[in-house]
Amino acid sequence: MNFENAKKRIEELTNIINKHNYNYYVLARPEISDYKYDMLMKELIELEKQYPELQDSNSPTRKVGGQVTKDFATVKHKYPMLSLGNTYSKKELQEFDNRVRKIIGNKFEYVCELKFDGVAIGLIYENGYIARAVTRGDGYQGDDVTNNVKTIKSIPLKLFQKHNMPNIFEARGEIFMPHKSFIMLNKIKEKNNEQPFANPRNAAAGSLKLQESKIVASRNLDSYIYNILGENLPYDNHFDNLMLAKKMGFKTSEFTAKCKDLNHVFEYISHWEKERKKLDYDIDGVVIKINSHKQQEKLGYTAKSPRWAIAYKFPTEQAVTKLLDVAYQIGRTGAVTPVAVLKPIQLSGTKVKRASLYNADKINELKLHINDTVIVEKGGEIIPKIVEVDFEQREKNASPVIFATNCPECNTALVRNKGEALHYCPNQKGCPPQILGKIEHFISRKAMNIESLGQGRTEILIKNNLVKNIADLYDLTFEELYGLEKTIVNELYGTTKKISFKEKTVNNILNSIEKSKSVPFERVLYALGIRYVGETVAKKIALHFTSIDSLIKSDFNSLLEIPEVGEKIAGSIISFFQDNENIKIINRLKSKGLQFETDKISKKSDRLDGKIFVVSGVFEKYSRQQLKDTIEKHGGKITNSISAKTTYIVAGNNMGPEKRKKAEELNISLINESEFENLLDND
Ligand code: IVH
Repeated sequence: MNFENAKKRIEELTNIINKHNYNYYVLARPEISDYKYDMLMKELIELEKQYPELQDSNSPTRKVGGQVTKDFATVKHKYPMLSLGNTYSKKELQEFDNRVRKIIGNKFEYVCELKFDGVAIGLIYENGYIARAVTRGDGYQGDDVTNNVKTIKSIPLKLFQKHNMPNIFEARGEIFMPHKSFIMLNKIKEKNNEQPFANPRNAAAGSLKLQESKIVASRNLDSYIYNILGENLPYDNHFDNLMLAKKMGFKTSEFTAKCKDLNHVFEYISHWEKERKKLDYDIDGVVIKINSHKQQEKLGYTAKSPRWAIAYKFPTEQAVTKLLDVAYQIGRTGAVTPVAVLKPIQLSGTKVKRASLYNADKINELKLHINDTVIVEKGGEIIPKIVEVDFEQREKNASPVIFATNCPECNTALVRNKGEALHYCPNQKGCPPQILGKIEHFISRKAMNIESLGQGRTEILIKNNLVKNIADLYDLTFEELYGLEKTIVNELYGTTKKISFKEKTVNNILNSIEKSKSVPFERVLYALGIRYVGETVAKKIALHFTSIDSLIKSDFNSLLEIPEVGEKIAGSIISFFQDNENIKIINRLKSKGLQFETDKISKKSDRLDGKIFVVSGVFEKYSRQQLKDTIEKHGGKITNSISAKTTYIVAGNNMGPEKRKKAEELNISLINESEFENLLDND
């Protein structure tokens, strides 16, 4: 076929396939057999291969995927992506209705829609083609996930007709994973020994952020469009624009309905509260919108959400099942979480096999016995929980659940510290899930960001005895890693194969380990995995003690000076550094070049040379440590107790009366924060 004919045929095929995609995925009314469809697609793929210059970035072949996104660019939203006010009761809806009536009077129409429980997306169309797909992000800017979104079958790449739609407009909607696809995906994940997704929403969100669009294509995501945004839209109301969007190729929900008053809204809600179980996707409520754009404008917005719309959230769904057993999960800090093993049951569209039991107190509070009939509930939280036991159904001689005495993984006796809710396995260095958990925490994105060691690779290193702790990562060599084997199930075809670490993988791993040496101190501190020291606390500590050495030397009371550090955190930090093994690991990491200081103390001036300071009390502008660092940077010396040699006492609030008395006796100058600053400026 010559170039001209190929061009024509590609155009023809594009239009035919787009039409069939629409029939199949949007209208659910296929007009040709799968076989015929596959033949058309095959023909197009081959023609594009033959004439790559004719391949369009919006060709239907994009639905198969193939593009790889390394980094998702951040894109600003033209219209902020707001959230919706939530209500859980009809009374609150009545109040919403009253507020609306006060502002726009009694002549208006509602539009009721399902509230899809997926991931919000903004699709920008330019001149009839999809130009960009952007996630919600923080509402003002999101991630450009265009390559991945193009693989979603119900999202049109080329619109059928333009009608009166402006050249540039945005279709907002929800991307979700239907239950069927979710169940299939998790089966594969379990086979691969990978963490399954907790629910379809997480699965959809995770899929959209995959780098390989081919895998996204295999995930069978779906979409509904629920809003059209742009200047000079064809209709002056929400409903008509949505109906037009459907004609243009978008998938909109057939259940979107106009309601003339609140009673009709209530009917719609009651209907879907019952019927939602029959849907093949999750909805968590109903969205109620004012139809007219003019009236929407008049109602306006709060800082976070429109005043012309509200979400009615369904009450949490419950189900009755049996407790088969109690299992125990060991986290990276050794915390033991009891998990109920349930007779599998369908709940809010997914099969539930496990429920969180939180801790021993919760088990006692529920008075759980093995084989009990229990009521489980799925709240906003991902993992369902047991809310009640049906005591009437309890079997005679049923045995009560007794909390494990030994770690199910390493058999060490569990401990529960006074005043704490959780049991711990104290075998921090030898308990396999703790070793794995610690390393996984260490390499995670917010910590050392050694992501190329993710996807089950850490486990292989542990299994092969290459790492037992975080410092071992920095001793890994190419020879040790090259050729290590991992079995995986192919998501696209469900086949299994063994893959070995190839040169590229090994180099990636080694490079990202090397790169991690420049990760700043506050993140290294977080990465160490000290119990209760999360990201924020680590930042505060790093700001206060600018190096690990001064942190290690610190005592309980000086730790308490740090904002957000209470006795529990301070105690945990002290005991972490009291453990010689941890100090050894830190020393090894230091020798490898990791960052253990925020800002190297480099001398800034010699204004305070020869002067001896005592710093006491609480300050407004600086932490005590910051003041001490500044003194040292300018040549001053710090001592802890006042003597005749002391030159200045920098005194903050709550300075002890004893110190004050001594200062007076020895006639030593007491200066406050701003006097101290003057010392630096003018001395
Ligand atoms: S309208 C300005 N309609 O719910 C408000 N949102 O908190 C625009 N959602 O993340 C939202 N179904 O992704 C609207 N039919 C629907 C929806 C819907 C689900 C999501 C949306 C947003 C959240 C609102």
